[in-house]
Amino acid sequence: MPRAEPETRISEAAGMPAEAQRTKAEDQRPKEGEGILDGSIHTFVLRSGRITEAQRRAIERFGPKYIIPFTGAPLDPDSLFADKKPLVLEIGFGMGQATWKIAQARAQFNYLGIEVHTPGVGRLIIDLERHGLENVRIIQHDAIEVLKVMIPPESLAGIHIFYPDPWPKKRHHKRRLMQDAVVALMAAKLVAGGYLYFVTDIEEYASYAKASLDSCAALKNQYESYAPRQEWRPETKFEHFAKDSGRGTFELLYIKGSPS
Ligand SMILES: C[S@@+](CC[C@H](N)C(=O)[O-])C[C@H]1O[C@@H](n2cnc3c(N)ncnc32)[C@H](O)[C@@H]1O
Repeated sequence: MPRAEPETRISEAAGMPAEAQRTKAEDQRPKEGEGILDGSIHTFVLRSGRITEAQRRAIERFGPKYIIPFTGAPLDPDSLFADKKPLVLEIGFGMGQATWKIAQARAQFNYLGIEVHTPGVGRLIIDLERHGLENVRIIQHDAIEVLKVMIPPESLAGIHIFYPDPWPKKRHHKRRLMQDAVVALMAAKLVAGGYLYFVTDIEEYASYAKASLDSCAALKNQYESYAPRQEWRPETKFEHFAKDSGRGTFELLYIKGSPS
């Protein structure tokens, strides 16, 4: 006997007409924010990208100095650094080229970089060692989970999101980092006056992100619409690719207001 399709079985078991059964199935599809916060949908794909010998050695030798293990318990940000400074979080630093340059140029902040990709972690550690930077720490884990469980509320002076994966297909929009539920989570972690700085070369994603940021009552756009380039943000390879392909850069800078 052929196996029944799951949908048919639901319908038969519930004794529902086909239309009602279809509506029920639609109701069961993930809604905006669902899945992304419980970890069943991810904003990244774990690639088995090749790690160089130098990156592997850097992690082995200097990892304990820079890498904070994902513990699932709230962090005390001040305990991570010798000098207490306001903390800026970067989500998805890639190879960390903007991370170390910003940490060097804006040394008045400490930085916590989050990335899932091992070669990027190794590359950033090489640069931190090479430039003697003491104000960067790394967590190699899903940034959404880190935000949820390790970052205390109102503890971040800033959040950087540069060239996040755009997930251009409509059916993948639920994997985007910039969506209402994640923006609300990020806003909750900023101190009053803290900033969220987002940059992409994909205009459609920029406007999608802007809609989420605009709908978050805690955040206020610092500009009429898109922001000008902040002069302290270095270009990364994604920006070079974008320019070579004739695409522009879309920047958004929002500040968290004080509770009224
Ligand atoms: C397109 S790359 C951009 C890298 C870098 N920001 C740049 O401008 O060069 C996006 C990066 O975000 C990382 N990423 C995406 N979602 C993440 C998440 N939830 N947690 C940690 N890293 C994430 C990916 O592994 C990838 O390296």
